[in-house]
Amino acid sequence: MKKITIAIDGHSSCGKSTMAKDLARELGYVYIDTGAMYRAVTLYALRAGLIEGQEVAVEALRSQMPKVHVSFCFNEQTGRPDTYLNGERVEDAIRTLEISSKVSLVAAIDFVRTAMVAQQQEMGQGGGIVMDGRDIGTTVFPEAELKVFVTASAQVRAQRRYDELTAKGEACELQEILENVLERDRIDSTRAVSPLRKAEDAVVLDNSQMTISEQKAWLLELAKSRMND
Ligand code: DC
Repeated sequence: MKKITIAIDGHSSCGKSTMAKDLARELGYVYIDTGAMYRAVTLYALRAGLIEGQEVAVEALRSQMPKVHVSFCFNEQTGRPDTYLNGERVEDAIRTLEISSKVSLVAAIDFVRTAMVAQQQEMGQGGGIVMDGRDIGTTVFPEAELKVFVTASAQVRAQRRYDELTAKGEACELQEILENVLERDRIDSTRAVSPLRKAEDAVVLDNSQMTISEQKAWLLELAKSRMND
């Protein structure tokens, strides 16, 4: 079977990462969570004092970008890759509500995207990769053999994120998360550089009413059929 490139794009908190990770494991492919890369840059900017409220010190971040290195290292225990920022494991630190509420601002900055897209293209050279994000099928790998665009209602997505955060013991309000989901949709879809949109040749999956195992089976079948094309 040929090693293909699989691009999984879609709205935030709709289970893209879970689907993509499971698929990569089933196929023996490399999995790259590009949202984690933007989250890691956001964590860097926050720690460096470059984000105040909803304002990013863009020029200061530009000059510090060469110092920001994001990488992944496979975690044998979880069977999934962990995200590293300048050599420090930040897998948990990038999943907080604080990072979620700032990341769209950072992901909208042109030089941040240029740097991340270049890294993503390098990581995906040669195929055998499942990459999830917002612009994988449109900008990073427009020639990907399989593109999936995942969505679900905002209420369902907010509930999923709420369940995830409370399971980790993080105090949160469902209403606040719903507002964050809607605001991120708005920023991600209206930004000037690589806005979130479905690639023309992407297959749409609305998983509002699907279980994780149903999605997993659906995606695996689709991927296998493309690998045999
Ligand atoms: O998938 P996620 O929620 O971890 O993504 C975090 C943010 O990064 C989200 O606001 C959208 C943005 N993002 C992006 O602009 N492009 C990508 N390829 C991946 C994520």
